[in-house]
Amino acid sequence: MQKQTIILLKAVTHILCLLPLLSLYRFYSSGALALNSDPINFITHFTGNWALWILLASLAITPIRRISVRISWLIRFRRLIGLYAFFYATLHLATYLFLFSGYDVVAVLDGLRAGHPAVIFEQFRQVWPYIWDDVMKRRFVQVGFLAWLILLALAATSPAAIMRAMGGKNWQRLHRFVYLAAAAAVIHYWWLVKTGVLSPWKDTAILAVLLLARVGYVLLKKRSVSTTKVVAAR
Ligand code: HEM
Repeated sequence: MQKQTIILLKAVTHILCLLPLLSLYRFYSSGALALNSDPINFITHFTGNWALWILLASLAITPIRRISVRISWLIRFRRLIGLYAFFYATLHLATYLFLFSGYDVVAVLDGLRAGHPAVIFEQFRQVWPYIWDDVMKRRFVQVGFLAWLILLALAATSPAAIMRAMGGKNWQRLHRFVYLAAAAAVIHYWWLVKTGVLSPWKDTAILAVLLLARVGYVLLKKRSVSTTKVVAAR
């Protein structure tokens, strides 16, 4: 694939990945969000869903590109899409910290306008006990944090310079944790829905297929390596 085509496709990927954010902004600016019965809940669910979908899309690249060498260039998009998953997960976390928790954004903006930047921390001091209590009590929040922390570590080590500094093998080992992050995100989803609600099943099924594809590939590779060794030993 030509360099220019890759650049063009990367631009298209950026646009596609930013579309959910744009649609959320349009929803807000048109006033439709304010008419929603629970706007904060809407934003939390919206950002959580997109973080998970984009994360699954980034995981799907590896098995899809193995179908044919002609589409092996797809691998060049995995890091970019993975970073967008982290971006939406961070928006999701920010929604939780600054909206869901009761953090008074309006009071902070008023304070900033009046020249009192300390209001940012004062608000945090007020909501911190609620957040801490929530993290301690609700296991779905704990597993959500675990997923986000893994994504943070992967995003922080994604630049090529860090990969070179870590060494390819160590980097690969660390980046396999992306499967753990996706599993934690799916568990997070199951643990937050009410008993009997099955909405996370589609994401779970997609993740199961991706994990099976990964395990299948590793097993096949091991078998072909041992066959090659046997043939070479003859
Ligand atoms: C950083 C820590 C996280 C926190 C504090 C958090 C918190 C929340 C909260 C409060 C909700 C709404 C719960 C309710 O309706 O009662 C939620 C929903 C959700 N979160 Fe998270 N979350 C976190 C990380 C993540 C991550 C990393 C992902 C995906 C990669 C994710 C995906 C989802 C999904 C899919 C939903 C449900 C959406 C729906 O029901 O339509 N969350 N999260």
